[in-house]
Amino acid sequence: MPVTYDLEGQKRVYATWAKFYDKVYLRLLARAQREAVTAACACGPDILEIGVGTGLTLAYFTPDRRVLGADLSLDMLKVANRKVASQGLKHVKGLMVMDACRLGFGDERFDAVTAQFVITLVPNPEQALDEMDRVLKPGGEIIISSRLVDDSALTAPLWTALAPIAKAIGWSTDFKVRRLTDWAARTGRYDTVHVGKGYFKVVRLRKRPAKA
Ligand SMILES: C[S@@+](CC[C@H](N)C(=O)[O-])C[C@H]1O[C@@H](n2cnc3c(N)ncnc32)[C@H](O)[C@@H]1O
Repeated sequence: MPVTYDLEGQKRVYATWAKFYDKVYLRLLARAQREAVTAACACGPDILEIGVGTGLTLAYFTPDRRVLGADLSLDMLKVANRKVASQGLKHVKGLMVMDACRLGFGDERFDAVTAQFVITLVPNPEQALDEMDRVLKPGGEIIISSRLVDDSALTAPLWTALAPIAKAIGWSTDFKVRRLTDWAARTGRYDTVHVGKGYFKVVRLRKRPAKA
């Protein structure tokens, strides 16, 4: 994934990627994307997909859901918009330009918030998680899929060592699962209910239901 840590740089990178993103990533990311979408659909009807990009995930949602997509890049969203029209994805209720760290929605609006292959690109992931938490209903889930490194993997130091090289060619390799689960534990309001396996992982953080 392209990694630049300023938002304007990020937009420039994805203005270029928009043209060939689907050709590179359609099959590569599909397993994790489908797993994340299935988990989100199980949470309830109102779902926010942050960093929706070209909308590769949108066809995986069931038609009875109401999905909003947000992304920093207008160029990526234009591709998503064409997909929604050409594939008749009526469950997609809107696509909007938005920074993950400044979501333009009211509190506790969504049953699930998904962020697929985007959290490693955000300069301050904890700030983005705070925003996801704000717009998520109690009982809902934050569902992240990305290239995430196992905390205990013997290869973790290798990925850390490779990170500067990977960054130079536009990839993220050293974002650890623990960064997400530590955030969840710090809030005191989330349980980590799933950490997937494999190179691309799905992590599900469930917000505890409101007390009666
Ligand atoms: C690797 S693509 C993933 C797209 C899609 N989620 C998928 O799984 O195919 C990353 C997307 O995140 C978006 N993005 C990067 N930083 C962002 C931010 N701070 N807020 C919202 N979107 C962001 C990029 O514009 C890009 O469309």
